[in-house]
Amino acid sequence: ALPDKVKIVEVGPRDGLQNEKEFVPTDIKVSLVNQLSDAGFLNIEATSFVSPKWVPQMADGAQVMEAIKRREGTVYSVLTPNMRGFEGALAAKADEVVIFGAASEAFSQKNINCSIDESIDRFEPVARAAKEAGIRLRGSISCALGCPYQGEVPVESVVHVAQRLIALGCDEIDVADTIGVATAAQVYRVMSAVTEKVDPRQVSGHFHDTYGQALANIYASLQAGISIFHSSVAGLGGCPYAKGATGNVATEDVLYMLQGMGIETGIDLDAVITTGQWISDYLQRPNASRAGKALVNK
Ligand code: HMG
Ligand code: MG
Repeated sequence: ALPDKVKIVEVGPRDGLQNEKEFVPTDIKVSLVNQLSDAGFLNIEATSFVSPKWVPQMADGAQVMEAIKRREGTVYSVLTPNMRGFEGALAAKADEVVIFGAASEAFSQKNINCSIDESIDRFEPVARAAKEAGIRLRGSISCALGCPYQGEVPVESVVHVAQRLIALGCDEIDVADTIGVATAAQVYRVMSAVTEKVDPRQVSGHFHDTYGQALANIYASLQAGISIFHSSVAGLGGCPYAKGATGNVATEDVLYMLQGMGIETGIDLDAVITTGQWISDYLQRPNASRAGKALVNK
């Protein structure tokens, strides 16, 4: 049976904006997070505490966290690849920190400049510190369904990294299709393999929509027992270390599908549509959400 409730993690402010070439002013980022809070999201990925040399767009993470209006009950997550990032996140009172590794060796090197095993070693102190501080811990697995540098990624690598992240104490792990190449049967297979070893309530699906497969992949994940999904308002996004990858699946499209299926999210679709059009206009690009485009002037 499909779940009757789904948690949506809105990643637009982080995954959506991190690849923007022009610096997006801090007050725009803050307004984006605030609008999403008002729309009712229970989890918003607000920014990253990463090297500004690697991802200049996220250089104002501390200012963003300082300025946002926090909605009670909403978890504000930030990316923290190392202790330096964790200390920033702690000072900024993040509710959840995200360590991010990969199921592909080649991508691990390009994204965080170390091997998969080295990355897990580096995450260990971050994980320990998060547990000690009582902060939620999430682990993201990039290139779990395909890699721009090595192509196919063995299912065993995904399961292996998932188990290692859970062993580090992650409350939740993300199976991510960084470049948006996966198709539904493959997603069902990988999600089923992961949930044989990890409680499905701790597993999320993070789909980019490069090949237009993301909604089908979410449906396949629902069938495999997954009930947490990441999406990005107006389909913003892309990864700086994954050439050609487009944005995350658009939040509006996911909400439209789930609403039609009678699956509850607690999120106000109309409010998200307004925000999606606002940020698309700001960035001077067409709204990448199909549902957003169809519904914006209704
Ligand atoms: P490195 O160069 O190997 O490490 O980078 P380093 O320790 O030598 O640091 C380099 C410089 O960065 C130093 O500055 C550090 O002080 C500074 P310098 O001495 O040269 O002036 N630095 C920092 N500054 C601020 N905050 C920090 C920090 N750490 C070091 N936390 C490192 C290693 C991991 C730091 C680097 O590779 C990095 O920051 N990578 C970030 C990559 C990233 O953010 N990628 C995008 C997010 S992941 C993603 O999008 C995938 C996801 O959406 C899921 C999916 O779709 O797959 C999650
Ligand atoms: Mg991503």
